[in-house]
Amino acid sequence: MRQFSEETLTAAVVARLKDTKDKRFKQIMTSAVKHLHAFAREAHLTEEEWFAGIKFLTAVGQKCDAKRQEFILLSDILGLSMMVVALNHKTAPGATEATVLGPFFAHGAKEYECGADLREGATMRGEDTLVRGRVTSVDGKPIANATLDIWQAKADGIYDVQTAGEFELRGRVKANAKGEYWFRSYKPKFYSVPDDGPVGELLRATGNHKMRPAHMHAVVSAPGYQQVITHVFVEGDPYLDEDAVFAVKDSLIGRYKKVNDPAEAKKLGMANPFLKLEWDFHLAPERGVKARKVIAPSDAIA
Ligand code: BEZ
Ligand code: FE
Repeated sequence: MRQFSEETLTAAVVARLKDTKDKRFKQIMTSAVKHLHAFAREAHLTEEEWFAGIKFLTAVGQKCDAKRQEFILLSDILGLSMMVVALNHKTAPGATEATVLGPFFAHGAKEYECGADLREGATMRGEDTLVRGRVTSVDGKPIANATLDIWQAKADGIYDVQTAGEFELRGRVKANAKGEYWFRSYKPKFYSVPDDGPVGELLRATGNHKMRPAHMHAVVSAPGYQQVITHVFVEGDPYLDEDAVFAVKDSLIGRYKKVNDPAEAKKLGMANPFLKLEWDFHLAPERGVKARKVIAPSDAIA
């Protein structure tokens, strides 16, 4: 057949996938074609509208470079990133829940032993915070020598990797042989996702705000356990119910408690008073489950 109608076109395009060697790729492409056609039909897309869509996607691609991943941001604000997390991370009972990676993870952060001071070299001050806890299995047994990749925005709501400077408020912290970890940092603050690109335009056009509730990012890994990509949110944050990227989970909200104890502060190398977040991470056993691959902004297709 050489001529297709609205009714026959989808099947014809799907039929052209018949020689796709990789079975899984064939399945994904078949589904993508069917849903894209259904979308055009349901919205009764005009040519001008589809061209506007193509221009938008082009602008998203053009905004990407080694430091900026506008496609991840688009996927995040459309809830697609969290849909993929939900599909792939049926949290084992007792395990720390996963959430979105976001575009600001970076490989190669400085490695620290337990007791790190992530405030080292910070260009802006925040509220001094001690974060401490344990990394355990789902049944509460300590996991020795886990690694916690930690990152958060600076006090101005901008991540180190968004600007030209050095890494800040970021590090790979080792838990000790008893599964304990602790480090010093600042209390995170709520911030805006980058809105100076096409995704920002989309948020404005749809009347949505651009804010994320305050959080610290953590990727916790240990041999024999499933890696978890997660956040710790701040109890009481005004944006917890309307995160621009739909990533909040009730189990990931932590309480930053004020400590007023000069002796304790001195022992910990903190100014008094300070804040303390006590937070345990619980990892599920690997059991043949492939670890979620952490992608860096440098994986962006410029
Ligand atoms: C973040 O938490 O760093 C983030 C997540 C999604 C989009 C933008 C930023
Ligand atoms: Fe973040």
